[in-house]
Amino acid sequence: MILQELNGKKCKTYLVACEVTNKALLIDPLQDYMDRYLALLAYKGMELDATLDTHTHADHLTGTATLANLTGCRVIMEQHAPSPTVTQHVEEGEFVEIGKIKLKVIYTPGHTPDSISLYTKGYVFTGDVLLINGTGRTDFPGGDAGDQYDSITGKLYALPEHTIVLPGHDYRGNTRSTIGDEKRNNPRIGNRSREEYIDLMENLKFPLPDKIQEVLQPNQSAIDDEIAKFPELAQLNTINQLYCEQVKSEIENNHQLFLLDVRELREFRGELGHIAGSILIPLKDLVSRAEELEIHKDKHIICICRAGVRSTTAAAILTGLGFDDVSNLRGGMLDWNGRGFPIQR
Ligand SMILES: [Fe+2]
Repeated sequence: MILQELNGKKCKTYLVACEVTNKALLIDPLQDYMDRYLALLAYKGMELDATLDTHTHADHLTGTATLANLTGCRVIMEQHAPSPTVTQHVEEGEFVEIGKIKLKVIYTPGHTPDSISLYTKGYVFTGDVLLINGTGRTDFPGGDAGDQYDSITGKLYALPEHTIVLPGHDYRGNTRSTIGDEKRNNPRIGNRSREEYIDLMENLKFPLPDKIQEVLQPNQSAIDDEIAKFPELAQLNTINQLYCEQVKSEIENNHQLFLLDVRELREFRGELGHIAGSILIPLKDLVSRAEELEIHKDKHIICICRAGVRSTTAAAILTGLGFDDVSNLRGGMLDWNGRGFPIQR
């Protein structure tokens, strides 16, 4: 196995490649470093088989979609990842195969709900869940300190002690650590109980990154448009979130209802299907097609997507355009399918 970190800065991108087949995987590639990655792959005579984001990033634009457009490689993420550009969703226990290399997917939510770690032969890529002598922040949308504690202490600490930890970030110049080192020395986890860890994380009070929404929302929606004006975090937080059961009851009882699905056509007709009667307007077209919705302004509009993230953005956009009765299907079609509620394809 060929393994190399490519950025040489706080934000890490790893190349994992199979020496037998020359197939390569890029983990957490940055949009800004695209040329570097493509040049390196060409220089080494490798074929980019797949790109993978360990989670939806809030601090940099992901390069996965552009790399896929240019090379036709797979885009792999955990099943809760909101981005419509993902071509292969994975979950706990599955393997990502790159030539002869197999990386085991460990579902490690906490930093985000779509965080995974990857384990292969003595190495674990931990994304932003477990860092060297630290842990990822849990105060971004969807973050959960309790989940993070369980992911680290229950799953990552269960790996062999000599396993080398390869995190998504390192802010302090650390270069090498193992699961055993982290168990003994990690100052965030230490001997804390779950409750003590949650308390610690809630009181860290880091400032949010300057451009969090400008980065997070393109990564969630795959809208690469400099003109696009995304809603602010505060606006997203005001959106009325409805559980699947509440939406089902609205469908059965409220005849002044408009179900707006904001995914891509491929997803609308895909594996998760769509709710009968829902109308498709992909998020990227929502502003330009908002006029079509004017006649439904008096209705209760429920926005729907895969995981409930893009549709929250859609609901905030519509609210900003003067629609006053807009809600979001929390957990999206993933949860809807999980409840066994009816779908169409
Ligand atoms: Fe992150």
